[in-house]
Amino acid sequence: MSLNSSSPAAVIVLAAGAGTRMKSSLPKVLHSIGGRSLVGHALDAAVSLKPEHLVAVVRHERERVVEHLLAHNSDLVIADQDEIPGTGRAVEQGLEAIGSVSGTVVVTYGDVPLLTPETLTALVTEHQNAGNAVTVLSANVPDATGYGRIVRDDSGLVTQIVEHKDALKVAEETGDSTLVDISEINSGIYAFDGEVLSQSLAQVTTDNVQGEKYLTDVLGLAREAGGRVAAYVTDDLMEVEGVNDRVQLATLGAELNRRVAERWMRSGVTIVDPSTTWIDVDVELAQDVTIKPNTQLHGTTTIANGATIGPDTTLNDVQVGENSTVRRTVATQAIIGPGSNVGPFTYIRPGTVLGEHGKIGAFYETKNVNIGRGAKLSHLGYAGDADIGENTNIGCGNITANYDGVNKHRTTIGAEVRTGSNTVFTAPVEIGDGAYTAAGAVVRKNVPPGALTMNAVDQRIIEDWVLERRAGSAAAEAAQKARDKS
Ligand code: UD1
Ligand code: CA
Repeated sequence: MSLNSSSPAAVIVLAAGAGTRMKSSLPKVLHSIGGRSLVGHALDAAVSLKPEHLVAVVRHERERVVEHLLAHNSDLVIADQDEIPGTGRAVEQGLEAIGSVSGTVVVTYGDVPLLTPETLTALVTEHQNAGNAVTVLSANVPDATGYGRIVRDDSGLVTQIVEHKDALKVAEETGDSTLVDISEINSGIYAFDGEVLSQSLAQVTTDNVQGEKYLTDVLGLAREAGGRVAAYVTDDLMEVEGVNDRVQLATLGAELNRRVAERWMRSGVTIVDPSTTWIDVDVELAQDVTIKPNTQLHGTTTIANGATIGPDTTLNDVQVGENSTVRRTVATQAIIGPGSNVGPFTYIRPGTVLGEHGKIGAFYETKNVNIGRGAKLSHLGYAGDADIGENTNIGCGNITANYDGVNKHRTTIGAEVRTGSNTVFTAPVEIGDGAYTAAGAVVRKNVPPGALTMNAVDQRIIEDWVLERRAGSAAAEAAQKARDKS
């Protein structure tokens, strides 16, 4: 017998249930934690087993769920469950979708997001090495309410699974609460021998308290047919926990985040306050990254060596280069080059590319802009639809007026440009290398390299205006005092 498991013939992911307790217009399995849908987590764990067939069984909100599933895994087989309810019927229709299978068939749930590839692999390995007909993933829980109970014989093999409601019925009828008192529960995740599974399912009826076709009945039938039925116990209760309502969604979301943060800390990332740091599962962090409190790293964000992110920063699909600092910033779909400085209070919108050693400072908003190496946008402004050359210094309060009310236009600013405070670039407009703009310039025409542009409006002085028009005011008094002294 090989110690390594072979790939299963199929993994069937059950996702047909209604998820009523979520009280949501969004189908339950499409809710997400760690930046991935619940069913996305389930599919990723399933894929790790490299099954020959990957099947998802759907029914509730079929169209939306199927669209999401196929976007996640294009080679997924979709199986539709009919009006016959129950996990057994779901699996039966999953099998029908792929024809007859021999070999191992694994069943998982679309609403159990923390199950790891390691645990699934261990289940399959145990199943195959022991030559079992069925191996169920079980757990010992403090409160087994709602779960199917694992019934074992003297040798520890499983004889059957009894659903909670059926165990209660037995207790009511016989006064014997042995079944209800069992604390070992069925996680709903199993490895089956494919032939045993399809033969047993054909015999399963809906003759039970809930009138459903129970998948759990397969275990008793397989055992009666002479198969070896066993349970593989996991100590990690979170891995087998399903999401039924939004309280569980938050609990499992927090636990997933705790696990993700712990993994990054163990690989050399400093997370000052893990409890206020949220890191999606697809985020990549290099060694010696520091994450300060209240920071959320979403999507495909990557942070290179030595960068410091936070506090109070939200990055969605952002690449941050080595040794950069990003403080109190909200950024989406942007690239922040190495050795740069961003924030505080900075809003970086899609298409922003900041070059090496660049700066985007306080109260800046940027969008669709290429900022050259060493260029600085230090304070108060908006740069959108623009190219800004190397080592250019954009003065305080500069605006690219990119929108004429109908169309967007580009502003092109060369290298080593110095712009005065409150310059407005009325796009489309080009500023040549090494040019200057005066304070308050409104740039409507292209500026050649090395030129200074200004808008000649004479500054007028109206003597004694305050003394006459604001007589008796504090300003007038101060002006009078200053006049008396001189
Ligand atoms: C089931 C098990 C129970 C186990 C529990 C673990 C059965 C009969 N009972 O309980 O022993 O302790 O899971 O959570 O299997 N689903 C379908 N089609 C259906 C019904 C359910 O696809 O007709 C899917 C649901 O979307 C869900 C999963 O199967 O992902 C489990 O369904 P749920 O109703 O939560 O499980 P129970 O039947 O309560
Ligand atoms: Ca459930």
